[in-house]
Amino acid sequence: MQEPKLAVPSRRLETPAGEVLIFSNAEQASAIAAARVAAIIRLLTSTNGKAVVGLPTGGTPVEFYKGLVAKHRAGELSFRDVTTYNLDEYYPISPCDPQSYRSYMHRHLFANLDIAPNHAHVLDGSVPEPFVAEHCRMYEHWIEADGGLDLQVLGIGRNGHIGFNEPSDVSSDEARATRTRLVSLHPVTRADAALDFGGEERNVPPHALTMGIGTILAARSIVVLAFGSNKAQALAGALSGSVSATLPASLLQTVGGRVTWFVDESAAADLK
Ligand code: GLP
Repeated sequence: MQEPKLAVPSRRLETPAGEVLIFSNAEQASAIAAARVAAIIRLLTSTNGKAVVGLPTGGTPVEFYKGLVAKHRAGELSFRDVTTYNLDEYYPISPCDPQSYRSYMHRHLFANLDIAPNHAHVLDGSVPEPFVAEHCRMYEHWIEADGGLDLQVLGIGRNGHIGFNEPSDVSSDEARATRTRLVSLHPVTRADAALDFGGEERNVPPHALTMGIGTILAARSIVVLAFGSNKAQALAGALSGSVSATLPASLLQTVGGRVTWFVDESAAADLK
């Protein structure tokens, strides 16, 4: 990926949910986010000997991952001392299914840099149902044993979900206490995912395994990527609307001092 000519955001906002860096397009935002994350990884690995990073999937981070891979190929970034934990996975799904998030991560990142296979973790959508809760508990345990997430990179859904934590009418305290678990997918999320499953909503798995909002908010720093006009409404609500589990991304306001948003002008259209 070409380094963008404009290396600074066109606008910068301070919001209850953190600092928002607005770029003229998604490509620029992705390149700068990749440069920022690469710098954080270099700092963590040189000072602590390791970095523990939570990772997203979806269309949004594809260019961001290209940026990380380009830095690796240029000899500027190594994942030798990095451990990653993906946010979520469909359920049920085979890890070998091209639509699984395990396959996505292999294609876009893991196969293209020097991460050890046993440091690149994705929840397993093929675990037998009676063992799902135990698998989710183990995932939390692995993160904790690794010292917790140094950095969580996030996208947001059109309905404001983070990971696969869907809008819900529980209290925000209850939502903030959620940990890795099995969830049902919201109709909006299944409609948005249908394109990846042959255009048929009925082909989208009904459930998912996801880190909880509590797992995400416990990260020591959080980077959020949001691009395109279909994210504008969710973004405006998340940054400065009321804090509510009906818009899961708004819960990021409870840890705003640790969050940086990389967004494009289309996603920022509804921001004052
Ligand atoms: C999926 C993922 C989320 C992601 C969201 C947005 O539902 N589980 O982690 O942030 O989609 O996807 P996209 O980037 O394709 O808009």
